[in-house]
Amino acid sequence: MVPASTNTVPRSFLFVPGDSERKMAKAEVIKPDAIILDLEDAVAASRRETARGIVTSYLLGGAKQIQRWVRINPLHTDDSLRDLAAVIQGAPDGIVLPKTNSGADVSQLSSMLDVLEVREGVARGSVRIMPVATETAEAVFTLGTYRASSARLVGLTWGAEDLSAAVGATHNRRPDGTYDDLYRTARTLCLAGAKAAGVSAIETIWADFRDSAGLQADTVTARRLGFSGRMAIHPDQVAVIHEAFRPSSEELDYARRVIGAFANGEGAASLDGKMLDMPHMKQAQNIVAMAEKSEKKG
Ligand code: COA
Ligand code: MG
Repeated sequence: MVPASTNTVPRSFLFVPGDSERKMAKAEVIKPDAIILDLEDAVAASRRETARGIVTSYLLGGAKQIQRWVRINPLHTDDSLRDLAAVIQGAPDGIVLPKTNSGADVSQLSSMLDVLEVREGVARGSVRIMPVATETAEAVFTLGTYRASSARLVGLTWGAEDLSAAVGATHNRRPDGTYDDLYRTARTLCLAGAKAAGVSAIETIWADFRDSAGLQADTVTARRLGFSGRMAIHPDQVAVIHEAFRPSSEELDYARRVIGAFANGEGAASLDGKMLDMPHMKQAQNIVAMAEKSEKKG
């Protein structure tokens, strides 16, 4: 198996409808860290077979500087099997699995990938997995089950739209625009579930793609909470997301000072009259790691 950690987990995942070659070409110019070629909700059922062909050709021929992920259909559908049977020959970097119920779904997908990779002559274990882990009612109760699901698992993400449909809600936001409790809970448990599994937490989409200021503020909050990447639906969102995941120079300076305060090897230190111990050190190291990622990727 190729360890999943050998490639960095993207800060940005841009969704591209799997039947749009025009948008695939455009996405390459935008340079997100990853694209998600969608075979699920962004493609009409009547276009799915066409989309499979387009996505597979793209994977076989397209640029490889950005990670290429594919969102397949939910695992219980025949469409998911058709999706996988088509696309693995193109050696995608990963599969986004929608409407996941628990870690058991990830384990099942992982076994299917073993077979397909061997059949297609693709390195075994190379195709990674990121479930959309909050799209069914059951899924909300199983966010702690991903830990040993598969070595392919690199992140968990969440979604509010399918979850609201699943529980029979008419809306998922309050009149002031903030998410209702169920979706805030799902987001929080996604973050904790990802960290419990030792993988990245990836923030959901920001649907209002003309509202860059809202996206920026919301993504800065997500970073503060512990998310390290975000999915996007429109090219204009990619640069905003990258910027939001770049620590400010003040944050970076402070993080370096915190790390410096531990230089004598003791477990507790003081800086500017405040006590620091290991959690502060880890936070500082996270900031430095994120800054280095931004530096490397631009
Ligand atoms: N990826 C790549 N290119 C995209 C894109 C995307 N996700 N979204 C828009 N573009 C392109 C458009 O094709 C257009 O290019 P052009 O000028 O060469 O024609 C340009 O960016 C500007 O697009 P704009 O006119 O602002 O938006 P639109 O009305 O064409 O498209 C959406 C709006 C929402 C339909 C489109 O952004 C989209 O398809 N998003 C992804 C949807 C998706 O995959 N959803 C599933 C996950 S929730
Ligand atoms: Mg959906």
